[in-house]
Amino acid sequence: MTFARIVGTGSYLPEKILTNDDISKFVDTSDEWIRARTGIRQRHVAAEGQTTSDLGVEAATLALKAAGVHASEIDLLIVGTTTPDVIFPSTACLIQHRLGANGCAAFDVNAACSGFIYALGVADKFIRSGAAKTALVIGAETLTRMLDWSDRGTCVLFADGAGAVVLKADSEAGILSTHLHADGGHRHLLHNPVGVSVGFKMDEKNAGVRVIMIGNEVFKVAVKTLDAVVEETLAANQLDKSAIDWLIPHQANLRIIEATARRLSMPMERVIVTVDMHGNTSSASVPLALDAGVQSGKIKRGDLLLMEAFGGGFTWGSALVRF
Ligand code: ACO
Repeated sequence: MTFARIVGTGSYLPEKILTNDDISKFVDTSDEWIRARTGIRQRHVAAEGQTTSDLGVEAATLALKAAGVHASEIDLLIVGTTTPDVIFPSTACLIQHRLGANGCAAFDVNAACSGFIYALGVADKFIRSGAAKTALVIGAETLTRMLDWSDRGTCVLFADGAGAVVLKADSEAGILSTHLHADGGHRHLLHNPVGVSVGFKMDEKNAGVRVIMIGNEVFKVAVKTLDAVVEETLAANQLDKSAIDWLIPHQANLRIIEATARRLSMPMERVIVTVDMHGNTSSASVPLALDAGVQSGKIKRGDLLLMEAFGGGFTWGSALVRF
């Protein structure tokens, strides 16, 4: 049996940091409110001209180095992103060329905040089926480019960054299972209404490209849905929750993360938390948290990792990984 094994991780955050106090200077909010309701203290913001592919290339280069893999060995490159540099070519094609991996299959997956988990799920299937042997999977975002900076309900949450993993075909696990879901019925709760075939029309507020979210409604669905996907993952692998060494959740809100940890009876010391320092980087948040766990020495080879994410669509998913 062939598994996809994570052989290297990498991540990148733009230099510029925006603190809660910085934001409270231009919108009616406070450090106290943001920390209490979300756990966020600060977030990174891409420099002018810095694009999603710029962030992705940095993260990918570090992941390839950690894996000891040369770009020419990559035969599959997938980028989870909802903020591509341009409509086309895909961000994956742009990154592929800059890494020198020309020739391999390269495409983007747009599943909002679940983008990395979706991309990982697809890459896992390619490797398990024998269609690919060495895959580069990236989650990269410049969310701050599509925020309404006068909307305190969203502008305090989202941020920029990138994370990447290199996967190799191996007889040893590896990714044990991935579980991907979507429900397009909740579109009005979290969306960005501007796009190509609707004609780049401005919304009723004439506010252009921006994230619109009914946060407290999204919160309720996110907690319920993540509980269900975590249970599904354990059941599919006939595992007790005590078997999980590390929970690596999507970093949207500390209260959502704590709810999932409670469901798994996991102490917060076994949960990788970066939302305080990174904010919500959408597709980049899980691979950024994974790399932070690896770099800090917390996550060790052989550990059992449960990754999960929830985002616009709605989309949600999980991956159970023997690291
Ligand atoms: N500062 C101060 N007050 C605020 C702020 C702010 N930044 N934002 C909202 N408020 C106010 C509201 O106006 C409201 O005031 P009111 O009572 O006078 O009407 C009050 O705070 C409570 O608002 P709620 O929205 O009910 O606050 P809640 O505790 O739900 O926190 C939050 C809001 C942080 C957005 C939370 O609901 C959340 O994290 N939701 C989930 C987000 C998420 O997971 N998204 C999915 C992934 S994102 C993606 O896919 C792109």
